[in-house]
Amino acid sequence: MVDFHGHVMPTQIVALGGSLLRPEEAEERAVWFGRLRQMAVHFEGNGRKLGIVVGGGLPAREAISLAKQSFTDSYRLDTVGIAATRLNATILQQSLQEIGCNVAPIIPTSTDEAAELLQIHNIVVMGGTTPGHTTDAVSVALARDCGAPHCVIATNVSHVHDSDPRTNPDAKPLEEITLSELAQITGDEPLKPGQSAAVDPVAVSWAIDAGIRLAVLDGRDVTRIEDALEGRPFIGTLVKVD
Ligand code: UTP
Repeated sequence: MVDFHGHVMPTQIVALGGSLLRPEEAEERAVWFGRLRQMAVHFEGNGRKLGIVVGGGLPAREAISLAKQSFTDSYRLDTVGIAATRLNATILQQSLQEIGCNVAPIIPTSTDEAAELLQIHNIVVMGGTTPGHTTDAVSVALARDCGAPHCVIATNVSHVHDSDPRTNPDAKPLEEITLSELAQITGDEPLKPGQSAAVDPVAVSWAIDAGIRLAVLDGRDVTRIEDALEGRPFIGTLVKVD
């Protein structure tokens, strides 16, 4: 895609943490969904491409704990989690289709397939792909497969912190770090099925391999997502390539 100055406009990728869909906060969620739809329409109106990777949130947590009553194998539990991410992705994909967006009519099962669909559609919405990682990692893989230089990871915390703010009240928010600094914070222990973290360590390692810059921000405020996607200063953590 080329803009009117002749510049190639890269495809943009955003991971929406499933917690942002917040079924527990119905009214705010409706407003948030509306803003997100406006953002997608705006992107499409400018002839740009947007890949959206949706997390599992509450349905994933519920489904994984239900499944744990029958089995404990991680691969199987991840498979259940993936189904929940695809459920959430379908909600967003259908809602964009309903307002006439040029969104892919299917939820792709791999980032290769998603990158291909982005050749013919302005918007592709997907969830998880294979066991062993979260949708953060999927969004980094999609950025890599689309040749996108960066990826926005929208969660429900304002920044990456220097330690876990859930357990350390003195944790400091970080505005700018490198991928290797982020790798030190996340560690390299893989997440368990349904376990949440600031950023999935697998995503960080894939971002290092592919040289993908990250923006980690609070996606409850859609303006922050838009600022990061538009290349404007944003509230959140910029994670630069070393
Ligand atoms: P999420 O991507 O939603 O995990 O995947 P998350 O980031 O911790 O949570 P939210 O939704 O952003 O708050 C949910 C679960 O689905 C499985 C994993 O078990 C994960 O914990 N999953 C997801 C995979 O195994 N592979 C994938 O590609 C995606």
